[in-house]
Amino acid sequence: MHMKLQDVRIKYLRFFESQGHTTLPSASLVPENDPTTLFTGSGMQPLLPFLLGEKHPQGVRLVNSQKCFRAEDIDEIGDNRHTTFFEMLGNWSLGDYFKQEQIPWFFEFLTKKIGLDPSKLYVTVFAGDKKNNISRDMEAVELWKKLFKKHGIDAKDIEILTEQQGGERGMQGGRIFYYDAKKNWWSRAGVPDNMPSGEPGGPDTEVFYDFGTKHDTKYGKQCHPNCDCERFMEIGNSVFMEYIKNSDGTFSRLPQHNVDFGGGLERITATSNNNADIFKVDALDIVIKHIEKLSNTAYESEHLRSFRIIADHLRAAVFMIADGVIPTNTEAGYFARRLLRRAMLHMDTLGMPKNTLTLLVPDITNAYAKAYPVLQEREQNIQMEIQEEEERFRKTLQKGLHEFQKITTKEISGEAAFDLYQTYGFPIEVTEELARKKNVRVNRKEFDEKMKRHQEASRIGAEKKFKGGLADHSDMSVKYHTATHLLHQALRTVLGTHVYQKGSNITPERLRFDFTHGAKMTNEEKKKVEELVNQKIQEALPVTYEILPIEEAKKRGAIGLFDDQYGDEVKVYQMGNSATGIFSMEFCGGPHVENTKKLGEAGKFIIQKEEAVSAGVRRIKAIFKK
Ligand code: SER
Repeated sequence: MHMKLQDVRIKYLRFFESQGHTTLPSASLVPENDPTTLFTGSGMQPLLPFLLGEKHPQGVRLVNSQKCFRAEDIDEIGDNRHTTFFEMLGNWSLGDYFKQEQIPWFFEFLTKKIGLDPSKLYVTVFAGDKKNNISRDMEAVELWKKLFKKHGIDAKDIEILTEQQGGERGMQGGRIFYYDAKKNWWSRAGVPDNMPSGEPGGPDTEVFYDFGTKHDTKYGKQCHPNCDCERFMEIGNSVFMEYIKNSDGTFSRLPQHNVDFGGGLERITATSNNNADIFKVDALDIVIKHIEKLSNTAYESEHLRSFRIIADHLRAAVFMIADGVIPTNTEAGYFARRLLRRAMLHMDTLGMPKNTLTLLVPDITNAYAKAYPVLQEREQNIQMEIQEEEERFRKTLQKGLHEFQKITTKEISGEAAFDLYQTYGFPIEVTEELARKKNVRVNRKEFDEKMKRHQEASRIGAEKKFKGGLADHSDMSVKYHTATHLLHQALRTVLGTHVYQKGSNITPERLRFDFTHGAKMTNEEKKKVEELVNQKIQEALPVTYEILPIEEAKKRGAIGLFDDQYGDEVKVYQMGNSATGIFSMEFCGGPHVENTKKLGEAGKFIIQKEEAVSAGVRRIKAIFKK
């Protein structure tokens, strides 16, 4: 069946709803309350507390399609299956069902709802880990055997263990393959030995689709499901998350056994089209076709890589900007910058006219109009950010290229690469791309070290900064978080409803809030905003939340960063009630104080600084002062 992303997304959500799951909206690409990481890279990240036992307000069976960004895959982009941004279809059992239910459900979804031919499906299972006393997953093997048998397939189980052994031994007529922990164990830190104490994980079973293409011996003598040639594609991973690492290095069972299933939406869609190139799924294909037109170059042979880099990087940047990330030189913003600048280099390679990156934005926002209407709502802003980034980069690009041509060594030192970064704004990927063309190496290690030292140095003396949200859940951070909601609404009241949040960053010492607004705030405006926030603190507004259907929340006028998606329900925090008047209503995961008067204990709310972050975006730093 030929399907679009939206078709597969909806089929998946509906299928698991029919199995008693509640649909959750995707969390933001920028974790709001997790200072340990810049981006959401898997479906389990936002659900971590609930996998560890906290009660989820929506129940024990959840389903979602989570926006993910994996920076670590940036160098892989160019093949037929990797993208930095993707959606991960997830189904979650929080101490409820386990293997007996999950494995047959996923199989049914693939064969009945997506229409995949079972004879093209191959699976891998956990071979066991003697050292850590974790047994081989025979239960999963038996379940798979039974399912294949129903389709007349005699599923033989075969020992492979490692990629190298796979390359030597090949398929051996197998259908089910045992691999070691490197392939069939999942935790955020990887294999059991690498997990820090307190980290949950478990064995997994993965499903691969066989596109039937010829094996490429570049990747090993023989082919096997985890081979990197383009024959097999992993389309789903059921993690049976039932272990936790103890501080003495041993493993215990978690109080509840969980299922964390993750499947690549783009990849499953590609299999439904029986086309191994995931850039042929609708949302990416439309961008590729547009690039073909603009560049007058065909999507084939040596050009594939450039096309894929532009389409992937642009899509990731669009989603990031919609979630409040602006191209800058630090933290999350630096990823948006790197993606866009590398895409620009490949525009030039293909002969796309300059300043046309922004023309591709509507292709993406249209393709996601149903699932993420916020992209269309913010389309102009997204285009503006991309346009400005292109203009900024073009200003130094020629000079940088000129400098680059002067380099005649066989290896570009970390120092030279760092100079290109500092002086001409060349992210390391841009230097690497140029070096690749010249057949020259870049000393990446030396560059990374220099970059790290540079970042550390610029941090010294600077305030303690955390990414996208609260540094911790200390009393002061929570107070500043509640104050952020008051500030957001106060800005909208004083400046107008064009103001919306682009980002926030909270520590126990202060809050920082980025928002859309075209001009420097006048002293009078700042004063008005401060007064309004302090007035609302004095009014002692109760702070409550409700879980509401998204449409209802929007109807009531809730604001905030969380309003993408198809989803059903969102958490909405309200400051004030019908007695006091409702001042603010905002999508948010919390936590907050229970009454705004608590903020009064911290002192008076004061705007310390108001400055530009980029065109159209301002930043406020504010504190409480006694
Ligand atoms: N956590 C697993 C993964 O990211 C499955 O969702 O692959």
